[in-house]
Amino acid sequence: MEERKGFASNFGFLMSAIGSAVGLGNIWGFPFKMGISGGFTFLIIYLILAALCGFIVMVGELALGRKTGKGAVASYQVLSKKFKWVGWLGIVSAFLIMSFYCSLGGYCIKYVVLNFGNLFHAGFGSNGLDGNGIFGALMTNQTESVIYGLIFVVLTMIIVMGGIGGGIEKFCTIGMPALFFMLIVVIIRAVTLPGAVEGLKFMFVPGYALSAGIIEKAPNFLTVLSTAGGQMFFSLSLGMGAMITYGSYLDKKQNIQKNAIMIVCADTMIALMAGLAVLPASFALGGAGASMAGPKLLFVTLQNVFDNMGAVGPVFGIIFYLLVVLAAITSSISLLEVIVTHFVDGDKEKGKPDHRKKYSIIASILIAFLCALVCLDGLGSNGIWVPFQSIVGVRGFNDCWLDFFDMISEGVLMPLGALLMCLMIGWEIGPKTVESECNIEGNKLTCMGLYTVCVKFITPLLMLLILGGQIKSFFF
Ligand code: PFF
Repeated sequence: MEERKGFASNFGFLMSAIGSAVGLGNIWGFPFKMGISGGFTFLIIYLILAALCGFIVMVGELALGRKTGKGAVASYQVLSKKFKWVGWLGIVSAFLIMSFYCSLGGYCIKYVVLNFGNLFHAGFGSNGLDGNGIFGALMTNQTESVIYGLIFVVLTMIIVMGGIGGGIEKFCTIGMPALFFMLIVVIIRAVTLPGAVEGLKFMFVPGYALSAGIIEKAPNFLTVLSTAGGQMFFSLSLGMGAMITYGSYLDKKQNIQKNAIMIVCADTMIALMAGLAVLPASFALGGAGASMAGPKLLFVTLQNVFDNMGAVGPVFGIIFYLLVVLAAITSSISLLEVIVTHFVDGDKEKGKPDHRKKYSIIASILIAFLCALVCLDGLGSNGIWVPFQSIVGVRGFNDCWLDFFDMISEGVLMPLGALLMCLMIGWEIGPKTVESECNIEGNKLTCMGLYTVCVKFITPLLMLLILGGQIKSFFF
């Protein structure tokens, strides 16, 4: 049987795992959700959840992946009879998340091109349209949005075809430091704009969104808890096997506890930095009534910001949207890898040769169809969702395919997957299974006492609250 090739260095692993975690969720999900959910209060709750749920699940996923040396589905199958089906939730989530991730990633590529157009006063620039006009035109131009979505799918596929060490690790080792550097450049520009302080207040001052009239009603505790929890799972790429998959390629010498702490801290730090890059500028230059929510923040408000910056605007526009494309690709490759690893390992088990390229292409074709559906729908602009509205007519999404796929994956499958994993570790295979994998080659899980209490009681309980809050928010 061919050897299973993994990450060449711990740095390469870290960049890839942080690359998976840092994505679209950090760049607009976190700053916006923090602003409307009580600013600093949300941050404290997020940090507590990241420590008591995020870190615990991260250590669990990395350890189980490395112990079995297999992808999400096979890891569960090896470890437990009762939970052997849980890995499949990860495969389903990966397809669903990819559907909207690739279409949003495609829009970001379009905005890089658009800002190049503005820089050179070419015909493919804004052409006198404001942010709303540009985005509206893209949403209703189905051919263009599908083409950009498919470009993003193809880029993801090419990197994954290169394998863990040859494609993913190489790309992330260059891409993540570049992303960090570009983020610093954008932050320096954003926080030195006149009026930027309003954006900082939105993010950090408790109750600011309410007093400034951005939201009508203060959210209650359970809502904040489930918003923070849902955001945390999505942002840390947990609950769907991505970290099990990356963990399965991690060298036995490496320290799991240390790596988990670094991934959680880096992801949270970059989410906060993204807030510093995005919100002050939106408040300063986005104009009165600028939208702070969802895709509009990224594609309407921020494009207005770059258009209002004068001659340097397109340069910052290019840097910013390129940064977002990088963040999105380093995440989408980990999603595709969850699927590809599963099939590659299956073949290996049967003694067949490595068909990584074939599986990357087949999975990408399926993803391309889902992505095309989301692009054709244009966030509900083209009415493709309408016939389904009456069948799945619940309140939690804005009448479009993107929200529907997001609701099932981020809202239900990811917290559910993480909850089931904790129950398996806590009550079936035992926390010692995780400890024994962490304590090899002289490394140690130093917080074993806390780990046991969390994985058995605290984490599942918090996750039930998060899941309950999410499901409730779809209906009420
Ligand atoms: N963590 C990514 C983000 O914050 O955008 C999204 C994501 C990537 C979720 C990979 C799940 C995953 F497996």
